[in-house]
Amino acid sequence: MSFKLIKETELHDDFEIEILTGLSQSPKKLSSKYFYDEYGSELFQQITHHNDYYLTKSEKEILATRSNDLIKNILDANIDLIELGVGDGHKTTHLINAILNNKKRLKYIPIDISEKAFQQMNEIYSKTHNGEFETLGIVADYIDGIRIAKKQSNSRVLLLFLGSNIGNFDSTNTKSFLKKIWNQLNHGDYFLIGFDLKKDISTLMRAYNDSDGLTEKFNLNILNRINNTMQADFKIENFQHFGCYNPILGAMESFLISLKDQDVYVKKLSQVFSFKRYEPIHLEYSFKYLESDIFDLAKKTGYLVEEIYHDSRKFFANALWKVEKNV
Ligand SMILES: C[S@@+](CC[C@H](N)C(=O)[O-])C[C@H]1O[C@@H](n2cnc3c(N)ncnc32)[C@H](O)[C@@H]1O
Repeated sequence: MSFKLIKETELHDDFEIEILTGLSQSPKKLSSKYFYDEYGSELFQQITHHNDYYLTKSEKEILATRSNDLIKNILDANIDLIELGVGDGHKTTHLINAILNNKKRLKYIPIDISEKAFQQMNEIYSKTHNGEFETLGIVADYIDGIRIAKKQSNSRVLLLFLGSNIGNFDSTNTKSFLKKIWNQLNHGDYFLIGFDLKKDISTLMRAYNDSDGLTEKFNLNILNRINNTMQADFKIENFQHFGCYNPILGAMESFLISLKDQDVYVKKLSQVFSFKRYEPIHLEYSFKYLESDIFDLAKKTGYLVEEIYHDSRKFFANALWKVEKNV
């Protein structure tokens, strides 16, 4: 595999603006996309291997057993596989191998906001792929990343958005995100999305509050990241991780809770942020779906549902959509 990396340079400024606006509003809020610094990406990789975190295992089962069928749906000889939020990419190896085994020419363009993800990905791919293909990594936010990726692409696109990352958007932003992606794709391109399905609430609660406290460390690490990059003085022990299911939204939500009245100084922003005892910072939504939601979302945002693949427990679904444009 040949590998090249492109870096989008604006990420640091975005982080400062998001901290300033997120911690100035009520309720306070930080975006989960900033979980993934070097240590955050390492912790997430550990979470994906944890027994309580069924999401990765379920999606891996689907990709391990169905990648071949899925790739056979795509008749083109050349495929540009673009992936949003690749992480360590270990599940994608099944798709890559299916493409290479079906003797298709592959160009692979993974996108991730975390540079560490590409190091993790390269470690895995150096062991799992025999065939030759070109890889162009892009360190960028999803939408900037796909714009850059499309400029490098001239074949049929199979776009991947795995891991139920789609669930991190609320319902309005999900539709606008899917529409922005649609704008970037051509008629007939494919989009494979991982959706975490609605299920028994205790299974959900375990996954987001694992017994070894990895998710807790992962969520609290965002405060370390602010301390390290913005010379802030968050005392991590003064905050607590809290993950719960909101049945009205149909989403797991993660918060950090301030355990006391406290002031935090962020030197880089010359700002003090005050926290009341038990005040939350909202970190993340992880929306859960019914199969009917998947059809509904596709229809509202310009895609045709080609196929929905499930794992044996029906915990997770990978939906293969095709872009529909009036041409
Ligand atoms: C939940 S992990 C999933 C990783 C992998 N797709 C999987 O299924 O295991 C999310 C990944 O997306 C990346 N990410 C999160 N928000 C992002 C954004 N807005 N733009 C680009 N990458 C993002 C993170 O750095 C992380 O590697």
